[in-house]
Amino acid sequence: MAEQELCDLEVRDLSRTFGNTYALKKVSFKILQGEKFALLGPNGAGKSTTLKLLTGLLKPTSGEIKIGGVDPSTKKARTIMGYLPEDASPYQMLSVRENLEYIGALREIENVKETTDHLLDFFDLNEYERSKVGKLSRGTTQKLALALAIIHKPKILLLDEPLNYLDIPTQEKVITRLNSLDVTVIVSTHIMSVASRLTKNVIMLARGVIRWEGSIDALRALGEAEEPIESIVARMMTSAP
Ligand SMILES: Nc1ncnc2c1ncn2[C@@H]1O[C@H](COP(=O)(O)OP(=O)(O)OP(=O)(O)O)[C@@H](O)[C@H]1O
Ligand SMILES: [Mg+2]
Repeated sequence: MAEQELCDLEVRDLSRTFGNTYALKKVSFKILQGEKFALLGPNGAGKSTTLKLLTGLLKPTSGEIKIGGVDPSTKKARTIMGYLPEDASPYQMLSVRENLEYIGALREIENVKETTDHLLDFFDLNEYERSKVGKLSRGTTQKLALALAIIHKPKILLLDEPLNYLDIPTQEKVITRLNSLDVTVIVSTHIMSVASRLTKNVIMLARGVIRWEGSIDALRALGEAEEPIESIVARMMTSAP
């Protein structure tokens, strides 16, 4: 397999049910190394379920996922991927530094201390390094969760609502920092400016099926002149399938 294909991500006919409900139904897509995709869709569309299936945390009911040609549950896939869950919750009783060093050690990274120092700088967390996570504000906890998601230098970054809880200046810094990483990105978000600044492409889900897929430029072109992109997206999400 060529180096370029090692981190391609392919999903074929992926379905996942909870009881009698389909959270995802026969979803297929392919994301090549280095591509950046936003997952859009109304509440309950299946975005977080898709990300959990990609990380191997959830098992598909049917269908197939290949990360660089292997199953998401393999060590290889887990090394390639970094994941920021919805409402991420680092260890509450550990400090910010302890969380980073502990997860860094579990991930078997080299230079745990140097990497921790770098991430504390990268996310402006130095003043909190000795604070217990349970005492942090939600936004500061979110920055730590982002740092934990990238501590092992993943090639594929799965981000579920990454800018939740962050104030506007911090959002700006985090967008700049995430864009400086040379990674494949799949980001679930309800905020179109976040989608368009972190990604070039969109997969739009509604009720567990792909409603639309294409570039953000193509999405904009579907609207009337001057129509805000949020209005275009809202129309597409709510129109009958
Ligand atoms: N653990 C679970 N048990 C039962 N049903 C679940 C579970 N997780 C998700 N679901 C259901 O699967 C569907 C998709 O949920 P999912 O969390 O993937 O949506 P989402 O697109 O991330 O929504 P949101 O924008 O609200 O975060 C919903 O109907 C949800 O109720
Ligand atoms: Mg979700």
